[in-house]
Amino acid sequence: MSKDAAVLLGTGSIGQAIVRRVGAGKHVVLADVKKENADRAAKILEDAGFETSTIAVNLGSRDDIIALVSHAQSFGAVKHVINAAGVSPSQASVQDILKVDLYGTAVLLEEFGKIIADGGSGIVISSQSGHRLGALSEEENEQLAASPVDELMTLPFIAAITDTLKAYQYSKRCNVLRVMYEATRWGKRGATINSISPGIIITPLANDELHGPRGEGYRKMLSLCPAGRAGTPDEVGDLAAFLMSEKGRWISGSDFLIDGGTTASYWYGDLQYLKATH
Ligand SMILES: NC(=O)c1ccc[n+]([C@@H]2O[C@H](COP(=O)([O-])OP(=O)(O)OC[C@H]3O[C@@H](n4cnc5c(N)ncnc54)[C@H](O)[C@@H]3O)[C@@H](O)[C@H]2O)c1
Repeated sequence: MSKDAAVLLGTGSIGQAIVRRVGAGKHVVLADVKKENADRAAKILEDAGFETSTIAVNLGSRDDIIALVSHAQSFGAVKHVINAAGVSPSQASVQDILKVDLYGTAVLLEEFGKIIADGGSGIVISSQSGHRLGALSEEENEQLAASPVDELMTLPFIAAITDTLKAYQYSKRCNVLRVMYEATRWGKRGATINSISPGIIITPLANDELHGPRGEGYRKMLSLCPAGRAGTPDEVGDLAAFLMSEKGRWISGSDFLIDGGTTASYWYGDLQYLKATH
């Protein structure tokens, strides 16, 4: 019997927290550039009663995304799509960040936007980092939102980026704008698409950072933010579950900042000292 499918690309803790909340009774496709990460997530989810399959997918490759779409469709109608894959400024080069986080996310939205089920929903994990970029011009916004995907990386202000933090910030801003653009196409199929911009969420990598050589700076930042702590993958999962549920049907093309007030403090509060470094 064919089931609805829920697709997760990027099987880290944020992605897992989301798919656990929307995947029950569906076939859960776990995709990751590191197949071993998808397999590890599959073991955890299978042991918790979910039906899963795994596939190696590089978000930066259109061919891989197309293969992911047809893998998911072989199990049933694709009801949910979650993009929680990404590379961070300390992990990758400018080119890799732009190829994966900016271009890859745009391809994923385009390809799944062709087949998403009526009543379906999608979530893209962006970042608070995109909210630390000043305002772009109306023309730049429109270019990031609506340029043909294959032209995104050659836009002059994107091609000129030389620093990994800027590459990450522009990619995450582009995710939010692209979600707005795609919401109009996904809406024609009866589906919603939104983005979530988390602040620091404790994952194994973030936990290492917090206790590593640069840990003191992170701990100071967290203690000064309005919530006084980092977030958890489950808190992002709860927000995503609401947006993807029946209760969220009137929400599409929106971005949700979930950061314990960090961005507010970065612009107008105790964290303004970070402007000198970010
Ligand atoms: N953890 C945080 O504090 C935080 C904050 C803001 C935004 N984010 C965003 O959340 C998303 C998930 O991050 P996370 O913290 O769970 O990280 P993570 O490293 O735990 O998980 C990311 C997963 O994505 C996979 N991946 C990396 N590159 C890929 C590619 N090219 N194709 C397919 N899969 C790929 C990795 O193998 C990994 O399994 C990222 O987009 C990240 O930018 C994280």
